[in-house]
Amino acid sequence: MSMQTSKRPLVDIKALAPQTITIEPLTPVIGAEIGGVDLSRPLSEQQFGEIRDAFNTYHVLVFRDQVLTAEDHKRFGRLFGKLHVHPYHSKNSPPFHADTRGAPDPEILVVKADQNSRYVAGEGWHSDVTCDVEPPMGSMLYITETPEIGGGDTCFLSTIAAYDSLSPKMQDFVKTLTAVHDGAKPYTGAYGTTPPEGGWPKTTHPVVIRHPENGKLSLFVNRGFTTKIHELTRSESDAILEMLWHHIESRLEFQCRVRWRPNSLTFWDNRCAQHHAVWDYYPYSRYGQRVSIVGERPRLW
Ligand code: SIN
Repeated sequence: MSMQTSKRPLVDIKALAPQTITIEPLTPVIGAEIGGVDLSRPLSEQQFGEIRDAFNTYHVLVFRDQVLTAEDHKRFGRLFGKLHVHPYHSKNSPPFHADTRGAPDPEILVVKADQNSRYVAGEGWHSDVTCDVEPPMGSMLYITETPEIGGGDTCFLSTIAAYDSLSPKMQDFVKTLTAVHDGAKPYTGAYGTTPPEGGWPKTTHPVVIRHPENGKLSLFVNRGFTTKIHELTRSESDAILEMLWHHIESRLEFQCRVRWRPNSLTFWDNRCAQHHAVWDYYPYSRYGQRVSIVGERPRLW
């Protein structure tokens, strides 16, 4: 008997019976396109409830053809909680983007690349700002400009599917561990530069967390921010993290890919999904704005 994969479906599609929105799954594991919603208008309670249920089922929701102001974007975010202020803002040193369209807003992160970019936001598997004590539960990226030559997709993966497909022995082991998430790592790692001065958040979280809304277990270590498993020696920690990242990142059946069109908004769940921006369009431009929502402290309960 293979110890590796439980083959039960992770997404209970039949449990959703929306009446005010449409749901087109991108894959049976993660991602769905949501129709019938105009995010520039206040949502009814029923629409909000159906979107929230779809989010807790699919973890990555894509809304097409949305014409939104920054206030519309933030209003949608606030339905899910308090808006997050990225640590970059308190350092006053955005690493890849001056806020060029409209006044700088600490609740909006500009995600932009062009011919002058040396690196782009999120080019590597990660979930957002896990160095924070209460990392964003979700992020909403609104892309208004896509590269002329195409490309600039975002890939997503399910860390619930990744946890679920570990062997029971490995599941039991990783549930006993905690790991450090360091806000300086994106600079020294993916961006290949020096972190701005002033200290960055560094926090310990469980390696496995329980999703506070759908109750599922999720592997909560990511290459972007996680640096060390507390309970292990450095070489053990490096080996276990590398094994977990390889497992999380290499399985195509845990993944979906969002192909952007201008005026698309994608809302992803950082507690059970990682994402990777694909920078295959240099020297062309891509522009968007991201709002994130503060989450609870990740726990295994
Ligand atoms: C991010 O990590 O938020 C950026 C994602 C993207 O640009 O596709």
